Order: sequence, then C-alpha cells, then structure tokens
Amino acid sequence: MIQASYLDWNNSVPILEKAYDAGLFALIIGPKGTGKTSLVREFAKRKGAKLESINFSLRTRESHLIGTKTLTNGTVSFDEGLLVKSMREGSMLYLDEINSAEADVLLRLDEALDDRRQIALKESTGEIVNAKDNWFVIATINPLTHSGTKELPPQLLSRFPVRISLEYPPEDIELEIVKKYVSEDNDSNLRQGIKLANTLRQAAAVEELFYSPSLRETIAFGKLLDRKVSPKEAAVIVFGNVYAQWGNIEYQKVSDIITSMFGN
Ligand SMILES: Nc1ncnc2c1ncn2[C@@H]1O[C@H](COP(=O)(O)OP(=O)(O)OP(=O)(O)O)[C@@H](O)[C@H]1O
Ligand SMILES: [Mg+2]
Repeated sequence: MIQASYLDWNNSVPILEKAYDAGLFALIIGPKGTGKTSLVREFAKRKGAKLESINFSLRTRESHLIGTKTLTNGTVSFDEGLLVKSMREGSMLYLDEINSAEADVLLRLDEALDDRRQIALKESTGEIVNAKDNWFVIATINPLTHSGTKELPPQLLSRFPVRISLEYPPEDIELEIVKKYVSEDNDSNLRQGIKLANTLRQAAAVEELFYSPSLRETIAFGKLLDRKVSPKEAAVIVFGNVYAQWGNIEYQKVSDIITSMFGN
C-alpha cells in the first residue's frame, strides 16, 4: 500500500522535536484511527531514527521488553527484548497502546524510563544496561472508554511529561487527509461522507451509538468512491452495516441518518 505523507494539522511534530531535544519522553493520547501511529512513523523518519515498536496487549509479557533465555546446543543465551535493544542502540522506541498491558509488565518500564535511563538485567547476568544518549521513547494510549484499556499507573504516566492529544480533525482537514489517499476529484461526496462520520462520532461520544468511525473509515469511503461505488452504497458499506452487530434498532438509527444525508 502507498504510504501517504503525514499531514501535521495540529503541529505535533514541532512539539515532538522539542521533547526529543530536551530528552523528555512523549505520550500521544487519542481515539483509534486519529493518526497516532502515522505521526510517530513520520517523526522517526524525519529524525532518521530507527524505530522499534511494541504493540501492547493483555498478552504482552515482561520477556517481550527485557528478553528470554534460550537454550541452543546446550548453551544458555539471552535474547534481549526490544526495550533493552533500543536502549543499547539509542533508537526510537514506540510503545503502542501502552495502557492495554498488565500492571506487572509496566513495572519494568518504570525502571528503564527513570531519569537514570538504565535497567538491570536480573533475568540474565545482572548487567546494568545504560541507554545511549539519543534514546527516545514515545507511547500512545487510547482513551479509557476504549475496551480493554486501563488507567496508566501515575508513576508511569509521570515519565512521559510531554503529552499530545490527537482528536479527529476538523472536517476541512479530514477532507485534505482523505484526498491524499484517493485519486478522483470528488470533494462534495467526500465532504458528505466526512460529515456522516462526524455525526456518528458525536452520537457515539454521548453514548447514543456503540461505535465511532475513524479516519480509516473516511479514507475507505473515499477509496470506494474511486472504484465507482455510489456515495449512498459506500456509506452503507463503510459506515452503516457495522452497526448491525448491535441489533436492528442500532442499525436502523444509522440507516435513517444515511438516508437523510444521501437519499433513498
Ligand atoms: N494527519 C494525517 N495525515 C495523513 N494520513 C493520516 C493522518 N491521520 C491519519 N491518517 C491515516 O489514517 C489512518 C489511521 O491512522 P493511524 O493508524 O496512524 O491511527 P492510530 O491513531 O494509530 O489508530 P489506532 O489507535 O487504531 O492504532 C492511516 O491510514 C493513516 O495513514
Ligand atoms: Mg496506531
């Protein structure tokens, strides 16, 4: 897939620059599909930094961060995890959805992200690994309403003193972003799809609907228009049908909104 260039509409890159220069770790907070991962990739690219990523989930273990003992031909060795590796390399470490991990996993991060920026490999030799000077860490968290997310322990939160909030962009900017991914000139239909997405986002925000569409959906809507799907049909496919999983009443609510915006 082509990687469209990142549109830094809320000036996050200059803030990340300053955090990087000051050696302050950064946290990006925002709902799904608002461009958090794309922002981090863009920033790493601009810095020419190698990016090591860990995508946290309930299944993430300490060993993913620190490493695991392996036995090959009777010799025990230690395969270092991404946290240790990135500290040694001085690369950029991206901790994605850090608030979906278990608390015990996060405990080991406290140690490394402390001002001393070092970690003791008590799992292997006990060696103390010091991070290279240019080591930089960016984490993302999804808002707490997101299923499976937990509150980040305050002492870990305090290790990311630069916080960037990334929300859904204003409609004009979302149009500009979507247009990076489509080839046809279709502004008025694209605008209508973005408007629909925002109507659904607002309804989800006040818990009138169970699901809030992201930029992925507005981009998908644009791509279907490119493939000559009619705006109404694309709206039903991308925005409408998903609500059927919460039953007919939910589905009907959204169908009515789509019909009012796109006709019968
Ligand atoms: N400012 C932007 N400029 C260009 N493309 C963008 C921008 N924001 C979002 N996108 C595009 O929208 C899609 C979703 O973005 P991305 O994956 O970065 O979001 P995310 O916040 O990391 O989502 P999640 O929370 O689900 O991981 C991607 O295709 C991305 O390229
Ligand atoms: Mg992401």
